[in-house]
Formats: sequence, structure tokens, C-alpha cells
Amino acid sequence: MDSRPVKLAPSILAADFARLGEEVAAIDAAGADWIHVDVMDNHFVPNLTVGPMVVKALRPFSAKPFDVHLMVSPADALVEAFAEAGADILSVHPEAGPHLHRTLGRIRALGKRAGVVLNPGTPLAAVEPVLDLVDLVLVMSVNPGFGGQAFLESALPRIAELRRRIDSTGRPIELEVDGGIDQETGPRVVAAGASVLVAGTASFRGGPGAYRANLEALRAA
Ligand code: DX5
Ligand code: ZN
Repeated sequence: MDSRPVKLAPSILAADFARLGEEVAAIDAAGADWIHVDVMDNHFVPNLTVGPMVVKALRPFSAKPFDVHLMVSPADALVEAFAEAGADILSVHPEAGPHLHRTLGRIRALGKRAGVVLNPGTPLAAVEPVLDLVDLVLVMSVNPGFGGQAFLESALPRIAELRRRIDSTGRPIELEVDGGIDQETGPRVVAAGASVLVAGTASFRGGPGAYRANLEALRAA
């Protein structure tokens, strides 16, 4: 293991949606590094969450980077709206549209950090042609669409291989892992090479009084 500081990106998918602004402020105060926002369209994934209006409404509740995970198809038409709403990082799935290279270029042209997301069934090779255009690779350790799913062990060798490929670029590309992350799986994905952990259930369980302890437990693990 090396000494890269691992970032925690709590997913607000597990927050109380009736009090979302206060939830974002509370998880920020509890020590979140990034705020992970899961955007779902009932088309690319079988669930429906939030759009740019909600990101804009949440923006005043935290100065931390908003890490917006787009599970929408097509993504292109929404990229600008999310950028204007206050997203700092915008990540897209290669399957979400025919022009991944162009989409990533658009995100970068808007002055935002660009990410590619790999589903459990997506070959790692999907990221190769665009590695020079990304600031982040997000490895799904569940199939996207829902929080609270069980961690897929098959993510571990994929993370290790991506760590090798990212290191060979010499560029500071973040390697983020999303799905089923808790005190047991977190240390294992970090040992495999992850630099950012998304955690929904493990961050927000127990309500606001528990957030600091939840994040400290993840960090300590
Ligand atoms: C799944 C989302 C995840 C999810 C993680 O489609 O991308 O960010 O909220 O939730 P947990 O941590 O509960 O697995
Ligand atoms: Zn996510």
C-alpha cells in the first residue's frame, strides 16, 4: 500500500431527500471530501433521481467538489446544464452515447473535470482510447441504478489493472470506486489501488448524528 490520501465521496442517494440541503451540509461538516450525486434517468438505468435544478439548489450547502455521476443516455444534452448548475466533476458511461470522446471534450471545454465510468460488464479497454482526456476513472462495484447493493468481488482485479494503466500515464488520474463500499470492502479496494471511495449507505446510516463517526470509521478502516 502507498500513502496517497484516500478521498471519501458520500453518495447523497442514501440521504434523506426531504432535507437534501441540510444533508449535504451535514455530510460536508462530517468530513466528506467530495459530494457524489447520482443522476439516473429511468432509461440508461432503471431508476429516476435528480436533474440540474437540484444540483443548483444544493450548491450553496457545500463548497466541496460536486462529483456528478451521470447514468443518463444520451448524456451530451445535459452536460452543459449540470456544469452551469455547479458540478465540478462530470462522469459518463461509454455505453450512454456513441461519441464518448466528444462528450469528454465538451466536459473539459466547460472547464470541468471529466470522468469515465466502467460498469461491472464493461471491458477495461473502453477507457484506453480516452485516457488522455480524463481526470477520473470510476469503477462500478455494483450494477448502477440502486444504493445498498452487495459489493462485487470481480471489481478488485479490475481496479488493480486500472491502477497499473493509470500509473503508466504519469498523469494524476483519480481512480474512484462506487457500490457496496463499507468498512470491510473499502480497505480492499484501496489496497487494489483506489484513490476515491463512493459510499452511500455506509455514510448516511444512522442519521446526521452518526455521519462524522461513519466517515471516520471508513477513513480509519
Ligand atoms: C449506484 C450509485 C452509487 C450508490 C452507492 O448506481 O452509482 O453511487 O449510491 O450506494 P451504496 O454505497 O449504498 O452501495
Ligand atoms: Zn454513483
